[in-house]
Amino acid sequence: MLDLALTSIRHPMLGGTPPRRATLHSLLLVGATAFLCSARSIDEERKQLLWRERTMRLGGQLALTRAEQVANRVLMAHKEAEVHSPQFPPSMHFFRAKHLIEKSAVFHILKKMPKGAALHVHEFSILRMDWLVKNVTYRPHCHFCVTHRGALRFRFAHPTPPTPAECSEWVLLEKYRQELQNVTEFDESLLRNFTLVTENPEETYPNRDVLWSKFQTIFFSISGLVSYAPVFRDYVFQGLREFCQDNVLYLELRAMLLPVYELDGRTYSPEWVVETYRDVASLFSREHPGFIGMKIIYSDQRFKNVSLITESVWMAMKLRTKFPGMVAGFDLVGREDTGRSLHHYRKALMIPASRGSRLPYFFHAGETDWQGTSVDGNLLEALILNSTRIGHGFALTKHPAIWTDLWKKGIPVEVCPISNQVLQLVSDLRNHPAAVLMATGYPMVISSDDPAMFGASGLSYDFYEAFMGIGGMKADLRTLKQLALNSIKYSALQDTEKKAAMETWAERWDAFVAELAGGQSKKTAA
Ligand SMILES: *[C@@H]1O[C@H](CO)[C@@H](O)[C@H](O)[C@H]1NC(C)=O
Ligand SMILES: *[C@@H]1O[C@H](CO)[C@@H](O)[C@H](O)[C@H]1NC(C)=O
Ligand SMILES: *[C@@H]1O[C@H](CO)[C@@H](O)[C@H](O)[C@H]1NC(C)=O
Ligand SMILES: *[C@@H]1O[C@H](CO)[C@@H](O)[C@H](O)[C@H]1NC(C)=O
Ligand SMILES: *[C@@H]1O[C@H](CO)[C@@H](O)[C@H](O)[C@H]1NC(C)=O
Ligand SMILES: [Zn+2]
Repeated sequence: MLDLALTSIRHPMLGGTPPRRATLHSLLLVGATAFLCSARSIDEERKQLLWRERTMRLGGQLALTRAEQVANRVLMAHKEAEVHSPQFPPSMHFFRAKHLIEKSAVFHILKKMPKGAALHVHEFSILRMDWLVKNVTYRPHCHFCVTHRGALRFRFAHPTPPTPAECSEWVLLEKYRQELQNVTEFDESLLRNFTLVTENPEETYPNRDVLWSKFQTIFFSISGLVSYAPVFRDYVFQGLREFCQDNVLYLELRAMLLPVYELDGRTYSPEWVVETYRDVASLFSREHPGFIGMKIIYSDQRFKNVSLITESVWMAMKLRTKFPGMVAGFDLVGREDTGRSLHHYRKALMIPASRGSRLPYFFHAGETDWQGTSVDGNLLEALILNSTRIGHGFALTKHPAIWTDLWKKGIPVEVCPISNQVLQLVSDLRNHPAAVLMATGYPMVISSDDPAMFGASGLSYDFYEAFMGIGGMKADLRTLKQLALNSIKYSALQDTEKKAAMETWAERWDAFVAELAGGQSKKTAA
């Protein structure tokens, strides 16, 4: 039954029957009469099954060049050795696994690998949080206060503004630090306020409510820092640098385009924010040839009411008309389990279609393990609303009909392994449902969601988890190559941009393969 289902799902992508099938059939017929032949036919059947699974797997249809084959052997030798080491990072919580991953040879290869594009990342989490502590909070006119619920709040202003509601008095950080005995200690405590990282995550976050509450508090705290206009420009620039250094050449950023402010309290519109993203990205690209840039997926929060989301849909259409090369579409973000369903917003989300204008959707959908809830139904709604991609799609394998139809339409999922683990949907990443999607060759990309919140950066940590944990022993260079190719193929780049991106990527890929394979021949020569 499952096999049938998979075959029918597989059909739109795979096309014809494997060429060796005819041979197998004739062998089976003849083999029925003789013991020798029957032994051979079992062997043949086994080979056939293995072959079928190999070609079904993500990347299984790619043919490797000679250099890639050599590079693959190097990569797989490292992988083999690491899988058999006593501690297997993908089976552990990322907060404990991180330092082990950083020692891994596979991880160092993945860091060098040109990974293509990061298609699922959020605006305030693309840059290591220690930059906020070490750079931003040391700038002049930075104030902070502590809310009655114990959260830190920041504001750049001059002169010091009046005490805000629900907060202690504003304290100038510069002055506060001067009076401290141990500034290092204070800075470390700030950093702990800016990430979810903790030594004992099971104890700190006994359930998802506690975890999401901290998540929202972090967001609240850092937004006062990042949304200050001079910081905002630097933040975007440095964030692009972090991804570029991790060999990512293009980003699509989910952004709420919250008001950015100046020292005197003036604030800027969403249009200004988009323009700033555009200008900073083009400045960055000029300074870093080969880096392609970024696009914005305008996003709003799924706790808002229908009338507010209706306004956002209009805003998204307006922004897309005004910045066609920069604004790719629309999404709804925030905790899915407690948020409103896409169905709830259906009237608002149907506006573009009913007016004959196009607003591409990039919905977070199925970031849940509660099958059959209204939120679990988001996958269905994403399909019906023609979502261009699916954010997470963690629940996809529980919905065979939706899965089949999304596959026929070539709609990829954006898999973010570390995010799913930290946000408590899965603990051992070998059990991530995307393992099934990977084994069947479902179109997917790997991304990092909110890397800075998790103490990660760029894409390499998530690639490591996907390659070592989700992909299992059989995932090899083909899998990695397919993931990188997918990230460009399924991006919102226009056709000409895509072609250029593919060329840049291919050039870097060849250099990466040559280096990896070259290391091998040097070793053999030595
Ligand atoms: C913060 O970083 C910017 C570059 O992004 C640099 O110009 C500035 O001097 C740094 N400020 C501090 C206080 O480190
Ligand atoms: C300041 O705090 C840091 C981190 O908590 C600690 O390592 C260091 O020893 C402290 N320095 C002094 C002078 O107490
Ligand atoms: C957040 O920062 C405040 C101020 O330094 C500190 O008292 C508090 O312990 C920090 N919170 C965490 C979780 O470290
Ligand atoms: C939607 O929410 C906003 C903000 O909370 C509120 O001002 C508005 O009245 C609400 N609209 C409806 C129709 O409930
Ligand atoms: C989805 O696409 C189909 C086929 O192109 C179209 O008929 C339908 O109106 C679209 N729906 C929305 C909500 O865009
Ligand atoms: Zn997300």
